[in-house]
Amino acid sequence: MQDGWLRRALEVKRDGGALDDATWTRIIDGYVDGSVEEACVAALAMAVAIRGMDLAEIAALTEAMVRSGDVLAYPRLSERGVRVVDKHSSGGVGDTVSLVAVPLAAACGVPVAKLSGRALGHTGGTLDKLEAIPGVRTDLSPAAFVAQVEGIGCAIAAQSARLVPADRQLYALRDRTGTVPSTGLIASSIVSKKIAGGADAIVFDVKAGRGAFMRTVEDALALSETLVRLAARFGRRASALVSDMEEPLGAAVGTGIEAVEARDFLRGDDRDPRLAEAIFAVVHEMLRVGGVADEEIAPRTLDALGSGAAYERFVQLVEAQGGSRTTVDELSVDGRRTSALAGRSGFVTAIDAVAIGEQARELVAAGGPFAGIRITARVGTPVRAGEVLAECIGDGVPAATIAAAFTVGDAAPAARPLVAKMVRDAQAAVPSNGLRS
Ligand code: URA
Ligand code: CA
Repeated sequence: MQDGWLRRALEVKRDGGALDDATWTRIIDGYVDGSVEEACVAALAMAVAIRGMDLAEIAALTEAMVRSGDVLAYPRLSERGVRVVDKHSSGGVGDTVSLVAVPLAAACGVPVAKLSGRALGHTGGTLDKLEAIPGVRTDLSPAAFVAQVEGIGCAIAAQSARLVPADRQLYALRDRTGTVPSTGLIASSIVSKKIAGGADAIVFDVKAGRGAFMRTVEDALALSETLVRLAARFGRRASALVSDMEEPLGAAVGTGIEAVEARDFLRGDDRDPRLAEAIFAVVHEMLRVGGVADEEIAPRTLDALGSGAAYERFVQLVEAQGGSRTTVDELSVDGRRTSALAGRSGFVTAIDAVAIGEQARELVAAGGPFAGIRITARVGTPVRAGEVLAECIGDGVPAATIAAAFTVGDAAPAARPLVAKMVRDAQAAVPSNGLRS
């Protein structure tokens, strides 16, 4: 039987009021130990999804969730005053940024502890891309993850079940009850995992557009502001970018073919300009929140790429996680190709990122990790009838189906900026090893 306090708390949220910190802690503790009924938590999530939460409530929920599990720390770095950075993407198509940005930031002297997720819906997952490299594992133990970050300055691994178990439980409930879209619940879910992962500083890449969970720049900006303010309440440096997901980000869409794109980018063999713009924007923020002086950021980044140091760091990461230099050097895209062709002449005015993401997933399911889609004509590109829009790599999806994801119109569309908004913390944030200050 539930106590009266819980019912009163639900009534407060139903009527649009705010709960105090102790009540949030009591609810989450009770949910995890089974003494608070799931029906009550579902009702609370719905009330929050409709009524919202203030920042103090979001912080109290976040802190209660962090305390439900283990919290990682990097004592060999923190005792030298070195900040550990994590980078989060809200999920996109052709978003190969993490595979490049993580070793690149590390090569610039900023350690990165990247806890990552699997593919969700039509969006790709960084873990699936990295695991496409033969031998590479991402199920690192917390101790191995910490040791690798302290040793070579970077790791990309799956979230362990011991970090934020309350989020796992709450997210599954939200998924069943239509309460995933809530700025407060999303922000506490994301930030709790970053804090539990031991990050001193965080960069959030919040996608906006038809291929993203946030459809509009306004919604993505509201989430970005909440993420940065929430991180700041925990003494974490943070930046959030609102970036375009109206069309796929990089040219490659799949798993292993995105790993190939990342390798080629790092080696300097091939640098897609749109992907490069995204990578430079994200790495800039990673170095900024990692404590690198503004005027040093660009030269360090260019030097790490030009000297090969960033590529070497990628190879070290792969080796530390079970792969080898040879497997990285020899990665190659599947040779089976058909071309998706333009049906008319004009300009590419739209590329349906959801359709491309889903088709790439089918190609990978049928043909393995080195199948997928390579886009050759981006939005704004002039094309003639019969010209190639994309390469279909592998088989299982007809090239004509891929071509149907492209819209060709008479006039070039207005250019959209890749990074629509940037939210930065007030530089004064004090690094803190504890939880909320
Ligand atoms: N990603 C998360 O980790 N949590 C959410 O609630 C939504 C997206
Ligand atoms: Ca995610």
